[in-house]
Amino acid sequence: MATVCIVYGSETGNTKRAAEIVAAGLLERGHGARLVNAAEAGPEVFVEPCDALLFGVSTWGAVEEEVCQDFLAFYDELGKADLKGRRAAVFGCGDSGYDRFCKAVDFVEQRVQARGATLLQESLKIDRHPKDSPGLVEGWTGELAKRL
Ligand SMILES: Cc1cc2nc3c(=O)[nH]c(=O)nc-3n(C[C@H](O)[C@H](O)[C@H](O)COP(=O)(O)O)c2cc1C
Repeated sequence: MATVCIVYGSETGNTKRAAEIVAAGLLERGHGARLVNAAEAGPEVFVEPCDALLFGVSTWGAVEEEVCQDFLAFYDELGKADLKGRRAAVFGCGDSGYDRFCKAVDFVEQRVQARGATLLQESLKIDRHPKDSPGLVEGWTGELAKRL
């Protein structure tokens, strides 16, 4: 059994819902999962004794690097974190109607890798709300659970 910490930033609740689905899927498979709102998270997250760090982030084109407002301060912390030897995965919601679909997922993924973490699997980009793509988040979580 592994323990994961899931840090999510969400403006209208879509990525929060995805984070809840990921947490429930991991719990169902015998893993432990803790949800943390990025708006309330600081560098303490990076020293948590967990087996993997998961990051959920939505894309809002109006702000710096398109990371949603709730994730912005934590995104700065991520840029300073020592993640050497840590395992991580990234997911997030966007809207394919925008040119830069889910770019925040790419930005966070790049930053996580630049700080030394290894990605457990391909990042997940969700179009609008998880319920618009039935089974997508659940399937991604199932794969992740096997890699933990
Ligand atoms: C002002 C604004 C800008 C947005 N910019 C983008 C964008 O550049 N790329 C994208 O994929 N989605 C964009 N979106 C869509 C949101 O990312 C999408 O609604 C997402 O599901 C919201 O997730 P959240 O509720 O977790 O914040 C934008 C939405 C708004 C309102």
